[in-house]
Amino acid sequence: MESEDMESDIMALLVDLHRRQDRQGPGGDAQTRTAMDLAGLWSQTGLRVADIGCGTGASAFVLAELPDVSITAVDLFDDFLTELTMRARKRGLSDRLRTVAADMTDLPFSDEEFDVLWSEGAIYSMGFEAGVKSWRRFLKPGGVLAVSEITWLTRERPESLEEYWIGEYPEIDTAAAKMAILEKHGYAPIGYFTLPRECWIDAYFGPLANEFGRFLGRHEGNAAAESVVAAERAEIELFQTYGEFYSYGFYIARRTDAIMSS
Ligand SMILES: C[S@@+](CC[C@H](N)C(=O)[O-])C[C@H]1O[C@@H](n2cnc3c(N)ncnc32)[C@H](O)[C@@H]1O
Repeated sequence: MESEDMESDIMALLVDLHRRQDRQGPGGDAQTRTAMDLAGLWSQTGLRVADIGCGTGASAFVLAELPDVSITAVDLFDDFLTELTMRARKRGLSDRLRTVAADMTDLPFSDEEFDVLWSEGAIYSMGFEAGVKSWRRFLKPGGVLAVSEITWLTRERPESLEEYWIGEYPEIDTAAAKMAILEKHGYAPIGYFTLPRECWIDAYFGPLANEFGRFLGRHEGNAAAESVVAAERAEIELFQTYGEFYSYGFYIARRTDAIMSS
């Protein structure tokens, strides 16, 4: 099989494994609400919000609690958006949510279209710095960016762990470094916290591990499906061993326009 075909096969398997889940990465409704508190969103009505890399809608459904909000839920994969649309209908939220299938590196939006850009556990797909830099123009001046991103919790960590993450995502860094990137690209950080352990174990890894058996049943004898599950199991084990050294940091920042020339 050509390597491109293999890659799309793996992506299709990953979507099949994850599409039945409430969330596709670590997070929690309470943490989404905390970020909304820090962003000062509850007192505002009629906000236009984009949720980039929305998956099946975990954060979009919490954002939909805002008064008279209009949410644009964006993802690369139609299967996730179809699932989100069905769930929105069941929750009676269809009137405040629309879906857009698009690549986050090439979003079909106008300058200053949104009051809020939200993205939980997804910006790593294009890289934190490239993401915050290129998305800024879609925010109104003074608008809010809220993103969660894998972050080192300590200044030092075991060498093997560092090597693993540098291989997976070279942009992993401390919160101080991430905030410096936000400032460099025209944002003022206004809030930060880290996701607690239950956001990984109870909200994400637990339900995902419960799906492994059914997933392998649907793809019996498929070596690629077995390798997908093996990789997920390795990720769970890594967190169980080294979870005190990394988590998702939630970064909330306001677009500044003071002395930005680009
Ligand atoms: C780790 S999941 C997080 C999903 C959701 N925000 C959540 O917290 O449950 C990352 C999401 O980003 C989406 N994604 C990955 N690459 C993308 C891209 N280039 N453009 C748009 N979405 C992308 C994936 O399909 C997936 O839904």
